[in-house]
Amino acid sequence: MNPAIAIIGGTGLASLDSLKTVHQETRSTPYGEPSSPLLYGELGGRTVVFLARHGQHHTLPPHKINYRANLWVLHQIGVKQVIAAAAVGGIRADMEPGALAFPDQIIDYTWGRRGTFFEDNLSYVTHIDFTEPYCPVLRERLIHAARVLNLNARESCTYAAMPGPRLETAAEIRRLERDGCDIVGMTGMPEAALARELGLRYAACAVVANWAAGKAAGEITMAAIERNLAGGMEQVKTLLAQVIPTLEPA
Ligand code: HPA
Repeated sequence: MNPAIAIIGGTGLASLDSLKTVHQETRSTPYGEPSSPLLYGELGGRTVVFLARHGQHHTLPPHKINYRANLWVLHQIGVKQVIAAAAVGGIRADMEPGALAFPDQIIDYTWGRRGTFFEDNLSYVTHIDFTEPYCPVLRERLIHAARVLNLNARESCTYAAMPGPRLETAAEIRRLERDGCDIVGMTGMPEAALARELGLRYAACAVVANWAAGKAAGEITMAAIERNLAGGMEQVKTLLAQVIPTLEPA
């Protein structure tokens, strides 16, 4: 089985019940162990592989994820396109909890993560072009599918990748806002850059789980995040069923 399409599931999407799983495989890579076994199955008439970014039981925090192993294993099995689901906090006024967002830009504030495959034993130094960090074609397909389904989705925004695992301070969010960021998450980088290094077409579908720090009164609780994500991830599943048949089969 040679799936061309992968879904990386984030918080709130540790499994995909719409995927009719036919096969599960645990693989290792030269960069170590991926976050979870690979689940192969059928979705929207296509063979799709699913990887749980935080592990099958959601035990890996953002800074402990082996992003290189995750992207490498997908590349190794022949994946060409990756749809990454991710939970985010909403910064821009229209990024209310429950909304979907398709980012088109990234600012990376993470540090200390293994963020490249181009490190050792290089025959030449490589700098990938990252002007547009997400695949415009895949993004367009996602946006089109969301329109067809009339989902509550934002079609252009800048994603701030923060180190986590703690949430931000209100001042940090004000800074991100001044920088031009609209949503904030913890796992978007180096995932997107590693996908580009491997030549994978990669786009993200974010679900706003909460107002970012200082954007609403009171504490941000995990219970509220989980509540908002449950509804948002149901929309992601609907979106996947709509978009996958429109993607290139190989
Ligand atoms: N900040 C960073 N990452 C997140 C948030 C947030 O507010 N919500 C969900 N992931």
